[in-house]
Amino acid sequence: MRHDERYYGRFGGRYIPEVLRPAFEELEEAWKAAREDSDFWKELEGLHRDFIGRPTPLYPAPRLGKELGGHRLYLKLEGLANTGAHKINNALGQALLARRMGKKRVIAETGAGQHGLATAAAAAKLGLECEVFMGEIDMARQHPNVFGMRMFGAKVSPVLEGTRTLTDAVNAAMKSWTERVSDTHYILGSALGPHPYPAMVRELQSVIGKEIRKEILAREGRMPDAIYACVGGGSNSIGAFSAFLDEQVELIGAEAGGRGHKPGEHAARMGGAANVGIAQSYKSLFLQDADGSLLPTHSVSAGLDYAGIGPELAHLGETGRVRFESVSDEEALAAVKRTARAEGILPALESAHALALAYRELPAMPPDSLVVVNVSGRGDKDLFITAPRFDREDWLSFLKSEVARIERGEV
Ligand SMILES: Cc1ncc(COP(=O)(O)O)c(C=O)c1O
Repeated sequence: MRHDERYYGRFGGRYIPEVLRPAFEELEEAWKAAREDSDFWKELEGLHRDFIGRPTPLYPAPRLGKELGGHRLYLKLEGLANTGAHKINNALGQALLARRMGKKRVIAETGAGQHGLATAAAAAKLGLECEVFMGEIDMARQHPNVFGMRMFGAKVSPVLEGTRTLTDAVNAAMKSWTERVSDTHYILGSALGPHPYPAMVRELQSVIGKEIRKEILAREGRMPDAIYACVGGGSNSIGAFSAFLDEQVELIGAEAGGRGHKPGEHAARMGGAANVGIAQSYKSLFLQDADGSLLPTHSVSAGLDYAGIGPELAHLGETGRVRFESVSDEEALAAVKRTARAEGILPALESAHALALAYRELPAMPPDSLVVVNVSGRGDKDLFITAPRFDREDWLSFLKSEVARIERGEV
């Protein structure tokens, strides 16, 4: 392999413990062979249609478009994919690859639980054993997905170290892989980590951008002016952006601005607070202290609550091809409500960051602008975060009555 294929500008690479070298070499070879094998893509495309429900709709949002200044606004509804988010595109592709490699078991890390849920579903579909590592805090705040993973037969292992969120779940998954490489494939959930993960995850998520492009050309006969997507590690955004990188389309990433600008209050890497570093086996921009230790982060959305960013997006941000803005917890929560009321669509808190940014910026755009927002997931999983904020008393009395009902043995 040529050295520069592993890098995006000065970011990327593969900085792994020696014990994982054979596993990475095997993965790289298997991915190269699968990419070139039309049978692999044929099987994946069949499952896109039959199992995931692709293509997902590109929904025109006329009421919101009008409210925001007469724009033509489209929402790409990845939340309508099986398991409720874009994560299944990658998880299923890698699960097929694992089966091709003769692996019997897959492991994954998860933050919001969507990647864990997608991996568990793909493993169930393909008859693979599955273990998911999830921070203790995320297990509490995204509990509906923990239940879902168990329904699909996966073991969910709590991560008690460090931040007890996504950053430490990645460490735990990687460590677990070193302990059992021979029969296990690690299905990493975003476009980050050591090579070849960023390139592989991007390719498996590029179906989002290809579908947007095809559909928008069919409906509007031209390229969109702008595309918005939220950025955790970066998989839904690079998936949506990849078909437009060489076009005159503005690409905008929404990061988690959390509840403030101080370290630990947000996860906005591209706003200037992050520095170049090597962490979690790849080189990118990370929120870190002077010693290079990753800083704790905060976001109301577990999926954006991560100290690093995929190397390709770090590069696209540094070169100015993708513009990044941060969106606060409160703005994201308001966007959940606004989207639900105006269009009958309940977005995930992660996706609501992209929506909130579009709602902030569209009024200043020329009327009749053509804009797409990638709605990476649906909001059902966030019930335990949104309900106590939007409807506190009702939610509290509902929970109390449910506990009482369970204790009385009525359910
Ligand atoms: C619905 C949803 N959107 C976005 C993300 C962020 O991940 P990524 O940046 O890889 O798309 C997550 C992560 O869990 C998610 O669940």
